[in-house]
Amino acid sequence: MDPVHNPFAPGAGAPPPELAGRGPLLAKAGIVLARVKAGRPERSLLMVGLRGVGKTVLLNRVRELAEGEGFRTVSVEAHEDKRLPALLLPPLRQLLVGLDRMATVSVKAKRALRVFKSFLDGVRVKVGEIEIGIDVDPEIGTADSGDLEADLPALFQALGEAAADRGVPVVILIDELQYLSETELSALIMAMHQIAQRQLPVVLVGAGLPQLVGLAGRAKSYAERLFEFPEVGALAPADAHAALQEPVAEQQVAFTEPALDAIYAQTQGYPYFLQEWGYQSWNLAQASPIDVDVVRRATEDSIRRLDQNFFRVRFDRLTPREKDYLRALADMGDDAQRSGDIAERLGMKVQSVAPLRSGLIRKGMIYSPAHGDTAFTVPLFADFMKRVMPDERRARD
Ligand SMILES: Nc1ncnc2c1ncn2[C@@H]1O[C@H](COP(=O)(O)OP(=O)(O)OP(=O)(O)O)[C@@H](O)[C@H]1O
Ligand SMILES: [Mg+2]
Repeated sequence: MDPVHNPFAPGAGAPPPELAGRGPLLAKAGIVLARVKAGRPERSLLMVGLRGVGKTVLLNRVRELAEGEGFRTVSVEAHEDKRLPALLLPPLRQLLVGLDRMATVSVKAKRALRVFKSFLDGVRVKVGEIEIGIDVDPEIGTADSGDLEADLPALFQALGEAAADRGVPVVILIDELQYLSETELSALIMAMHQIAQRQLPVVLVGAGLPQLVGLAGRAKSYAERLFEFPEVGALAPADAHAALQEPVAEQQVAFTEPALDAIYAQTQGYPYFLQEWGYQSWNLAQASPIDVDVVRRATEDSIRRLDQNFFRVRFDRLTPREKDYLRALADMGDDAQRSGDIAERLGMKVQSVAPLRSGLIRKGMIYSPAHGDTAFTVPLFADFMKRVMPDERRARD
């Protein structure tokens, strides 16, 4: 069928034609926003889930909801090689300048700008890459120690007081939170703790891979009381069917039931894969309804496409030894495996495998669903590893 009218949207953060199965989570986010706006205490939301389940899409939806409710937003994506202040400061500057420039004068908003300047002076020493100017005098002695765990809470407090004074609630959205360093995560948690204690109208809505829960708990043990960690997972069969059927129905097209079942069996309900299979099926179908034969051919195209991009970009970032590790894990199955068993399979000691495993967790390739267990963060990655490295035992470097 005409590819120009293909409704499906496989791609990182690409808004799906039908945001299926996320009603309860969005309702929850709506309540959090409404409570924060009303000045009531509320725990920040940190959504956790595997690659391609729709975390970024949800964060973007929450931002739209918040903007509709009159929130100002700060939106950043954490990155392995970029420090948190460098990411956070440009949008924070814009927000603070905006709060200052409202019709009336606010002492709190002016002070927040001065604290921002102090913070900048403090971190500039550490983070050379920051190039942000601001034409105010710093508030010397506040937020300028250069110690992020002291300075970020002070900055957030000044921001929160300005927001409260302006009657403007603020939501800070951070994607890929698992990439923050321990100090950064700790500073962020402490900052949100200050905000919560003072009931200031600032809320954090974040997203990250499942290891985020453990990282936050290790950074600050009270993180679990401060945040809620809703899980974002694969879609249940009925929701997966809706994700496929609703978008095509708008164009008087339908999938047959067996076709929907076949796609579910291939994708296990993972949103990214549903988009990919829907996309290929639409392009291959001659006419409605889209049947199992089309899906069978779409499966070949979908897997080829995933192998070339979704999986490939992750594979290409691995060292040969990391590839061997993941290949061994893949061979043991799709589920979590005991770290000791993986080491044994590699013919190595657990202690010698540990740095390799930590590196892979930092890269966001694997996580530990329970102590001593290891699993892929990318759904269906085990099959990919077997396709791309047919022989388990390759020469190790
Ligand atoms: N609820 C949903 N129903 C149908 N499709 C969805 C849904 N949520 C997300 N998608 C689709 O899934 C794909 C992945 O979404 P997104 O990039 O938000 O995932 P993610 O969890 O942020 O992944 P990553 O961890 O790789 O960043 C996109 O193509 C998006 O359109
Ligand atoms: Mg994402």
